[in-house]
Amino acid sequence: MSFQRKKITVVGAGFVGSTCAHWAAAKELGDVVLLDINEGAAQGKALDLFEASPVEGFDSKVTGSSDYKAAAGSDVVIITAGLPRKPGMSRDDLLATNAKIMKSVCEGIREHAPNSVVIIVSNPLDAMAFVAKETLDFPRERVIGMAGVLDGARFRSFLAEATDVSVKDIHAFVLGGHGDTMVPMPRHCSIGGAPLDKFLSQENIDAIVDRTRKGGAEIVGLLKTGSAYYAPSASAVQMAESILKDQKRILPCAAYLEGEYGVNGMFLGVICKLGGNGMEKVIELDLNETEQKGLDNSIEAVKELLSSLEKLDY
Ligand code: NAI
Ligand code: 2OP
Repeated sequence: MSFQRKKITVVGAGFVGSTCAHWAAAKELGDVVLLDINEGAAQGKALDLFEASPVEGFDSKVTGSSDYKAAAGSDVVIITAGLPRKPGMSRDDLLATNAKIMKSVCEGIREHAPNSVVIIVSNPLDAMAFVAKETLDFPRERVIGMAGVLDGARFRSFLAEATDVSVKDIHAFVLGGHGDTMVPMPRHCSIGGAPLDKFLSQENIDAIVDRTRKGGAEIVGLLKTGSAYYAPSASAVQMAESILKDQKRILPCAAYLEGEYGVNGMFLGVICKLGGNGMEKVIELDLNETEQKGLDNSIEAVKELLSSLEKLDY
């Protein structure tokens, strides 16, 4: 009997990428390759992380490279390459630079890891996932954007703090694009199965919804030199884990829609089932008028982003 460990390649060995490698190795999801245009950074961080393995007791090999051949045979690829947001910069300002980076990364992945499931993290997320899908030319099951797990985690942590309840008992999520128009869904949230209004006033709920929408900017404002990375990397690795272990978790992800919510040919944050085949199913919710209006607004924002992308030469 032969047994082969799973393999995860993380492209971009910056804050998000190296922390993804950390979570993935510590959880023993498989062997981890860190790829970056800056070979020294990829090799140095990978070696440093590998040297932590005897202390922490994880059996994951961690290696670094700038050569896409190192990604060969990857089961999951997480792409974090690209510039992060600086204070005063919107996610959309990153569009032009990161589209070029995403295209070159995906050309390397298409050649060397053609059977992988690819999770996109780089911003602006909904547009970068689109560039990735176009360049990779993989089926939609194998190109998924990470945003909803992160935005939902922010929503859940603020709810846990406000209600003094374990995060484990808070179920909450966000739909739509990964930007200011994202749509937190308080009506669909529950705390131990009970609706939010059993614990919080409408005013409190509204304030938490607002803070969730601005969650990325709140961290940028505090860090001043970059954006969030602990919660984003934990979120990407949760998606990778569900795929690598065929857990079939139901998670909010940016999926390439083919008619769901009346949308065709673009990525949008929706509820998905993630398993061994990647994004195995989109679960469409019945929305009320306010929720539908919020989602329509978010769909328009993603469409605007894609029309800016269309005008670029990348
Ligand atoms: P960072 O600057 O620390 O790391 C980016 C890395 O990408 C650097 O190591 C850089 O050398 C590498 N890189 C640049 N061009 C490359 C190329 N052509 N090939 C391979 N590597 C290349 O940035 P950080 O904080 O890790 O953020 C990475 C990206 O993730 C940003 O675009 C950020 O906005 C995005 N992000 C998205 C989130 C989401 O919810 N979807 C959450 C947090 C960050
Ligand atoms: C965030 O939401 C920057 O998109 C990133 O933290």
